[in-house]
Amino acid sequence: MTTLDPWGAVKIDNYSKLFDEFGISRFDELLGKIKNPHRYMRRHVIFGHRSYESVLSAMLSGKPFAAMSGFMPSGRAHLGHKMVMEEIIWHQQQGGDAFLAIADMEAHAVRGKSWKECREFGINEYILSAIALGLKPGAHIYFQSKSGNVKDLAFELGTKANFSELSAIYGFNGETNIAHMVSALTQSADILQPQLEEFGGPKPVVIPVGADQDPHIRLTRGLAYKVNMFIVEKRESAGKAFISVRGKAAPKEALSEIAKRTGGKLYEEHVDVFKQSFDEVESIVRETELKYGGYAFIPPASTYHKFMTGLQGGKMSSSIPESYIALTDKPEEGAKKVMRAKTGGRVTLEEQSKLGGEPDKCSVYELLLFHLVEDDNKLMEVYKDCVGGTRVCGNCKKYAAELMREFLKEHQEKREQAREGLGEFGL
Ligand code: TRP
Ligand code: SF4
Repeated sequence: MTTLDPWGAVKIDNYSKLFDEFGISRFDELLGKIKNPHRYMRRHVIFGHRSYESVLSAMLSGKPFAAMSGFMPSGRAHLGHKMVMEEIIWHQQQGGDAFLAIADMEAHAVRGKSWKECREFGINEYILSAIALGLKPGAHIYFQSKSGNVKDLAFELGTKANFSELSAIYGFNGETNIAHMVSALTQSADILQPQLEEFGGPKPVVIPVGADQDPHIRLTRGLAYKVNMFIVEKRESAGKAFISVRGKAAPKEALSEIAKRTGGKLYEEHVDVFKQSFDEVESIVRETELKYGGYAFIPPASTYHKFMTGLQGGKMSSSIPESYIALTDKPEEGAKKVMRAKTGGRVTLEEQSKLGGEPDKCSVYELLLFHLVEDDNKLMEVYKDCVGGTRVCGNCKKYAAELMREFLKEHQEKREQAREGLGEFGL
């Protein structure tokens, strides 16, 4: 007998390329160390990460860390956006600083949205829902176009990015408008902003994203590395391990200060350290870099979640209204979409009771797993009954539709309360 696997719907077989070819690490390896893992973690919806250890160790030792993401205010916020919002909120609840960007510059440059539309969509679709889902005051919610920090940093990052690199990631060509290119750097600036002095300086920051967003994360990690004043690396020469600190364009005094503090040997453009640990050297370098006006960015971390499939199978996409449920869909409408969703049920009831259903291929089950059932045991029960053939799709859909109706109703009430409280977020 095959073992029951209630998380089967989020199998990551198709993602193994990401691990092998792109160097994304498996989230499972960290799962045991996380205190109150989010539903998406427990159920392997979040399956991969880059340097999330840095965030986790800050979280466990009470040191500063942050989570950030951005939303383009060009369409309706749906269950896919809710996933990212929940991930930010969870990190805020674990003691992190939360950042939420409304990517109005991107929506204006790439989608041609007017500034007025950006403002309205930003507030009405994304911000109100994020607050209704539990984002608390203290979170930094901002519009890109209103952030001097972000715009200045984007310009600075532009000194380290060229057209070939950006076009390889974003598909830019000779027809691409310049503001579109700027908005790519603005996104990187969003990601690095939490580490600016104004927000307490360098710290681990996690960007929860969908698996397809990794190129943007890699770009930003690369830019962080390039704008930093120093590069700290483990090296080896003639069988002897040491740490090399290279300062590309660093002031001479800064480099010699590092040599003094680490007891290392000073060369023209680098210092070799033989006695101290990597962490010690890194922290001395960071302090010195900040003192001399550098950024000393820590490469941003990321987590990768699986996508939900569309309610009709296929992709969940903003351009196909029947494929998604928006957070502002009327509760009745949301329930109807669930009733019309594609299931993993068999053609006849007889077959269903003989063979059981296929929850791994069922978009209704996916709704339960991703959004509607918090209790793992309850979900396990649904799974068992489905594969055991005792659960009938008609009733199961009614159950999910009812949960969806309740969720949307409650969520929308909270959105109205959030509207009253926008001032607490400086909005
Ligand atoms: N580019 C993202 C989108 O397509 C929005 C975005 C802007 C973003 N800044 C960000 C996402 C920072 C993650 C982190 O919607
Ligand atoms: Fe999906 Fe429920 Fe039908 Fe199973 S019984 S296939 S979970 S709708």
